[in-house]
Amino acid sequence: MEIFLDTANPDEIRRYAFILDGVTTNPTLVAQEKDRYRFQELIREITKIVEGPVSVEAVTATADEIVKEAKGLASLSPNVVVKVPMTLDGLAATRKLAKAGIRTNVTLVFSVNQAILAAKAGATYASIFVGRMDDIGWDGIAVVRDTVQVYAKHGWPTKVITASVRHPLHVTAAAMAGTHAITIPPKVLGQMAAHHLTDAGLAKFLEDWKKVRTS
Ligand code: E4P
Repeated sequence: MEIFLDTANPDEIRRYAFILDGVTTNPTLVAQEKDRYRFQELIREITKIVEGPVSVEAVTATADEIVKEAKGLASLSPNVVVKVPMTLDGLAATRKLAKAGIRTNVTLVFSVNQAILAAKAGATYASIFVGRMDDIGWDGIAVVRDTVQVYAKHGWPTKVITASVRHPLHVTAAAMAGTHAITIPPKVLGQMAAHHLTDAGLAKFLEDWKKVRTS
């Protein structure tokens, strides 16, 4: 399971880089860095920190516009993966980009049927937004589980990214559902590492160590 950090903040990416397979950004996350970086400068900075895929979102609408924009984004660094919206135009662009050897991440996927179309269009990744589904009373993880099964059954190479992760339980559930990748906000990654019994256990060990006589 690939682990991506869901942020455009270079400091956060540096902090967790040792455990990351890549990064995902979106326009909202990029906008949060607007006071420190211009867009292209920000993406170049991020792609220098991690070697793996860095997803960067196209913001145009028609297939031709998306293809043109995607080629520009991909030219920023070899590890850029272009996020393409889950629309018919986005799928048409995905098909053309696959033929041109540009990796894509079809984003804003909320159903197995959308994920099927993303795979058929030749997407490298399909991002299923579990948190946004849970927010409205749907079962986001069920869509991840079913999509992973469908892709395996048909031998489609597209990888499922569990996205819109809100808490550590999403990570456990997505891993158990067999997600191929997950993109995790920095706060949740920190929560995954923490446990009060670890802290208490460590404190006790260090206290007891003071009683040990060495040399
Ligand atoms: C995915 O790539 C998106 O950047 C992200 O996971 C969206 O999460 P949100 O629903 O918390 O905005």
